[in-house]
This record gives sequence, C-alpha cells and structure tokens, in this order.
Amino acid sequence: MLLEQFVEDVAKGAGEILRSRFRTNIDWRSKSTPGDVVTSADIESERYVLGRIKDEYPDDCILSEESGESGGQCGRLWIVDPLDGTRNFTMGIPFFCVSIALVEAGEPTCGVVYDPIHDELFLAARGSGAFLNGERIEVSSESSIEDGIISVSWVKHKGNHIKFIEYIEEISRDTSYFRRFGAAALVMAYVAAGRVHGYLQGGLHPWDVAAGLLILKEAGALVTDFQGRPVNLLGCDIEIVTGSAQIHSILLNDVIAKRA
Ligand code: IPD
Ligand code: CA
Ligand code: CA
Repeated sequence: MLLEQFVEDVAKGAGEILRSRFRTNIDWRSKSTPGDVVTSADIESERYVLGRIKDEYPDDCILSEESGESGGQCGRLWIVDPLDGTRNFTMGIPFFCVSIALVEAGEPTCGVVYDPIHDELFLAARGSGAFLNGERIEVSSESSIEDGIISVSWVKHKGNHIKFIEYIEEISRDTSYFRRFGAAALVMAYVAAGRVHGYLQGGLHPWDVAAGLLILKEAGALVTDFQGRPVNLLGCDIEIVTGSAQIHSILLNDVIAKRA
C-alpha cells in the first residue's frame, strides 16, 4: 500500500472507533495536569493506530500521546494523537480528530488529520500540496484580520494565561470573531483550508502539531513560534502562530511582539 493510502486508511479506521463511541456513556479521567483528560476511546484509537503502524513498518519509531515512545531506529518517526479534542469528545461536541504524521530527518513528510463526524480527511505529503477529501486546499488570501476568524488558545496550567488575554485584547481592536475550538490539529487543518484566518496557541505537544504543520505549509501558510522561528517539532510547550503570510505577520508583529 502506498504511504498516503496507508495513513488515510489508518486515520479512517481510528475515526470509525471514535465515531462509534461518540455520545455513548463514555468514561473519562484527568491525567497528571489539570485540564488534560483521557477516555477509553483515546486508548482504543491509539491501540488501533499503533498496531497498524507496527504491522506495516515494524522498524519505525513511534511517539504517541498516551503511550509515549516506542520502536527501533529512529530515521522514521510516527507522531500520533489518537484523539485530539478529547474534552469536546467527552461533552458530545462534534469537533475532534485523529492526527498522524510521519517525520523523517526531523521534518514531517506525510500528515493526516481526520474528522470522523464530518468525514473530512485533510492530507499532505511534503512537496505535493494539501488536500481535503482529495480536493486541493489553500490558506485564506485575506490580508487583514478585520472581521477575520482568529483562534487563540492557551493551556491553563502554564501560568501565562494573562499573555493570551492581552493578545485577545490586541486582536479585538479589529475583529470580534474569536474562536477557541478545543482541537489544535483540527484548527490547523481549518486554517489550511481557509476556514479560519489565523491561529495562535502555546503549550502544545508534538502530537498536537506534527500533521497540522505539514498540512499548513503545503497549503501555503506561514507557521512559526512566537519569536518568528521555525517550530521545534519535538520540543515541549510548543508555540504556534499561523495564517497567510500577511495574517501571520499581523499576529506576530502587531499582536505578539507588541505585548512581549
Ligand atoms: C488538546 C487540544 C486542545 C489544546 C490542548 C491540547 P487533546 O489536545 O488540542 O485544543 O488546547 O493544548 O492538549 O488533549 O484533546 O488531545
Ligand atoms: Ca492533542
Ligand atoms: Ca489526544
């Protein structure tokens, strides 16, 4: 099976697990950090994805949210979020996804984000563009954030929430269309598809961003950290600011830098 076919098939298989458990009486518990939750659906989805990767590519390494790192030599690393948007999922809110990326030599080369409720599959392979259900997608061509939809998110336990309130205050001079969607990978895919104009968030993990980063870049978006540097994919407390080149510049220079 071709690589892209494989990731698509695995994401849809995991999505089917999530869809079948959605709005059922699902158990959930907090993890070590407040505001971080896990359900048996996260675990089931992860077991399925990791099983498929290990069967198809037994020598590859895997980094997955619920079970950490595993595998042999790491020229090829799979980064998996088996359910991104778990809190939405637990509340019956249909905004969550599966996110899977293959990283080679430190760069994502193939990424998929699948929203099983709307059956929307966002896929990118390095150098080949970004696609939604097979149709090419591009970041919005808007050059200002006036009336733009801007997603701003932060993580409660990081203690820097005031910064994000300041960013919102700055952005709200131009637009009142704020969103806090609750599934980082899917928001990144929405920016890539031109549905959301810009996005900034801190406190992210590799599994939240690996696939979304590639999908964004292949859709023509600029993506950096809050200092304008390339995103360190394997870092902790990852920051993302993204949008078209113009929107990215506004968020980076007129919002974040202004409140540094
Ligand atoms: C979370 C979601 C949320 C983001 C958090 C992530 P999870 O992932 O993407 O939108 O704000 O930083 O941890 O726990 O639902 O996979
Ligand atoms: Ca996540
Ligand atoms: Ca998750």
